[in-house]
Amino acid sequence: MTYSIIGAGAIGGALARHFARLDLPVLIANARGPEALRDMQEALGASVQPVDLQTAVQADVVILALPFAAVPEIAAAGDWNGRLVIDATNAIDFSDFTPADLGGRFSSQIVAETLPGARIVKGFNTLPAAVLARDPVTAGGRRTIFLSSDDQDAAARAGALVKQLQFEPIFLGRIDEGGRLQQFGGALMVHSLLLEAA
Ligand SMILES: NC(=O)c1ccc[n+]([C@@H]2O[C@H](COP(=O)([O-])OP(=O)(O)OC[C@H]3O[C@@H](n4cnc5c(N)ncnc54)[C@H](OP(=O)(O)O)[C@@H]3O)[C@@H](O)[C@H]2O)c1
Repeated sequence: MTYSIIGAGAIGGALARHFARLDLPVLIANARGPEALRDMQEALGASVQPVDLQTAVQADVVILALPFAAVPEIAAAGDWNGRLVIDATNAIDFSDFTPADLGGRFSSQIVAETLPGARIVKGFNTLPAAVLARDPVTAGGRRTIFLSSDDQDAAARAGALVKQLQFEPIFLGRIDEGGRLQQFGGALMVHSLLLEAA
């Protein structure tokens, strides 16, 4: 299984650190190109490989960690059909930091329309980047990651990655169920839940 992260800022960087911590190979792409990510690679090690966008799109699992508004810019970078995409984006109106007006639709539904054929799982989008970056294994328990998808097999595969990164997945059902709670402005936004060891 190959993994990539598109977006190398606060969220992409936090996720890349978790891959590096476990020496799990991951490709990472940004807007400015791989040369701009050399410092990140030096800091995190060889498991994090900067690539161009076209290469990142070829991974089996692609994590979206770029602005929601920039998702259309990556649509033509490759073939999304059947690709597992974990959508960590949030649709925000930055004029007043409120949920963007999506005409009653859910942000991951729009991402799904924008990347035709992609199997979308909403995930890694509720925690502030600084919290996501922390070790998921704490004295109090394991940090949890919410996942929602209309494709249960895709959700299960995303859950396997979440577990591999040492977080605990919590499945919330379909995008119009869990996605509602998970997306920006939803009840689960920002809350960091720990699963206590039994
Ligand atoms: N920050 C948080 O606490 C937080 C929490 C939950 C969810 N989120 C969501 O996660 C996403 C990323 O947020 P962030 O805070 O990590 O943003 P950020 O720090 O501004 O980083 C954004 C990254 O996206 C890249 N990018 C922008 N347009 C691109 C394009 N067309 N193709 C490829 N890469 C592109 C940028 O590339 P360059 O570096 O080359 O400019 C940058 O690496 C957003 O949707 C945000 O709403 C953020």
